[in-house]
Amino acid sequence: MANSTIIQPNKGHYNIAEELPSWEDFSWKDIETNFSWSQTGKVNMAYECVDRHVEAGFGEKTALHYIGEQEEYKLTYRDLKEKSDLWATVLKKRGVKKGDFVFVFLPKHPDCHIAMLAAIKLGAVVGPLFEAFMEDAVKERIQDCGGTFLIASPELVKRVQRDQLPSLTTVFITAEPEQCTGDEISLFEEARNVETEENIIEWVDLDHGLNIHYTSGSTGKPKGIIHAHRAMIQQYITGRWVLDLKEGDIYWCTAHPGWVTGTVYGVFAPLLNRTTTVIHGGRFGAEEWYDILERTGVTVWYSAPTAFRMLMAKGDKLISNYDLSKIRHILSVGEPLNPEIVRWGIETLSNRIHDTWWMTETGAQLIVNLPSEAIKPGSMGKPFPGIEAAILGEDGEILEAGAVGQLALKANWPSLMREVWKDPAKYSTYFPFDGWYLSGDLATIDETGYVFFQGRSDDMINSSGERIGPFEVESKLIEHPAVAEVGVIGKPDAVRGEIVKAFIVLNKEYQESKELLEELRLFVRSGLAAHAAPREIEFLEELPKTPISGKVLRRELKAREAKKSSDLLVNK
Ligand code: WT7
Repeated sequence: MANSTIIQPNKGHYNIAEELPSWEDFSWKDIETNFSWSQTGKVNMAYECVDRHVEAGFGEKTALHYIGEQEEYKLTYRDLKEKSDLWATVLKKRGVKKGDFVFVFLPKHPDCHIAMLAAIKLGAVVGPLFEAFMEDAVKERIQDCGGTFLIASPELVKRVQRDQLPSLTTVFITAEPEQCTGDEISLFEEARNVETEENIIEWVDLDHGLNIHYTSGSTGKPKGIIHAHRAMIQQYITGRWVLDLKEGDIYWCTAHPGWVTGTVYGVFAPLLNRTTTVIHGGRFGAEEWYDILERTGVTVWYSAPTAFRMLMAKGDKLISNYDLSKIRHILSVGEPLNPEIVRWGIETLSNRIHDTWWMTETGAQLIVNLPSEAIKPGSMGKPFPGIEAAILGEDGEILEAGAVGQLALKANWPSLMREVWKDPAKYSTYFPFDGWYLSGDLATIDETGYVFFQGRSDDMINSSGERIGPFEVESKLIEHPAVAEVGVIGKPDAVRGEIVKAFIVLNKEYQESKELLEELRLFVRSGLAAHAAPREIEFLEELPKTPISGKVLRRELKAREAKKSSDLLVNK
């Protein structure tokens, strides 16, 4: 680690080197002066993302550039303001008010941006749902909030089990009335029939709820993490200094807003920085992605290691068919960024890939590679200005450089979660030691302050950068009549970081078979989501358990798995 390679920045690429304050001079208060609310006290994230830029004379600037399977179009900042005002008017007429939860279940599409902004304009708490969520995953989340309002597409609403969600009284569909069923409301039709209400924006406090994202841990069901409008301070300035967004940039974040990256760095940060954002409807495809990068002239690109690895695997010959010379800054998040990927980025895209570290709970990036600084491949970077990181031992003591322990952050940054919905006890588990937020990640910090990820301290699974709770997958599998007992772990994987692996003890009347294996996989896939479905299933006679409580020992399953793969290596 001490002698790891250092890669200096290509200064010509970036614009911020001169603008950064020295670490000691940094204060969050100074960043607040970028917002008019620091004087007026009138706060609303959607206003800062959109309306403010129109007022400042940038209404004609392209805000969104959409490329879908069927169509391609652009929306200006003025379009985005008018549409979100209009939809906010419709929502308000139908009862949405400050503090309500509004779930949004839409694909990657400008409508998703508009719906989120409309809800936020009314002071509602927006809950974007990942487009690949299936019935159970959707139901659990809406149920947990007692959600009343939902905005969905005609395709995705089919996965919403209204009969099991009595609280959900009002469902808006982003389509014409012909595509709505029952009491669903056509948002398009309603929008044609109302006149935009003036001063539709509901001004709120900095600590008023803004968005909710459900996230998995190693135990229990996913928890609703709530962020407040205050988060904009950090989301704006990390957008400026880490993403290095500036006037002429075309920016593409590949995450769906159902993941916190897709909301914070797909919707908020680029708009706060008045950037043009590319939206690509659909999932990964190497040719398609290169085509988007070339066609839209992306300059700043934020994606994840699994995607880079998949692109790498397609070979460099494919890249040479595309002109990707406009790209000047690439960033990564969500899982460990292998040094090979960084080298690949330099060789084939003439760009360093800058790792960033944060979590749903942290609300914005905390450990970053600023474009103006040297990077050490294999390291996640250094704390952002104003952020204090440390490695803590068992009792909360600060460990010296080079030691492995719990990655902790001084809990004083603006975007830190406000609340775990209905679960203050869970909230306090993040702060076992005075003033420190405990991430659950194991890491080490070297003598020069670079942070190196070492793994999770719990059983949380990270597959393709998507956070999966083993408990959620186990709970689903145990519903299947064939399953008597089950333990789910993350198994290391060269492309996806980890894959979901399930160990299953079958009920007596069931026999192990290929068909059953497929059926079980499909059961999770169609109930929860594709990314949560076990890629590997192994049938066992019994599972290792704790002697007293009889809980399945995932650690032991993991250790056995690790031993198996090292045996394989030895036997090669
Ligand atoms: C967990 C958080 C909001 C960011 C996207 C994921 C892992 C995140 C890195 C990185 C290694 C990373 C951690 C973290 N993680 N970034 N750069 N290198 N691991 O957010 O779904 O809340 O997951 O993702 O384990 O705790 P999330």
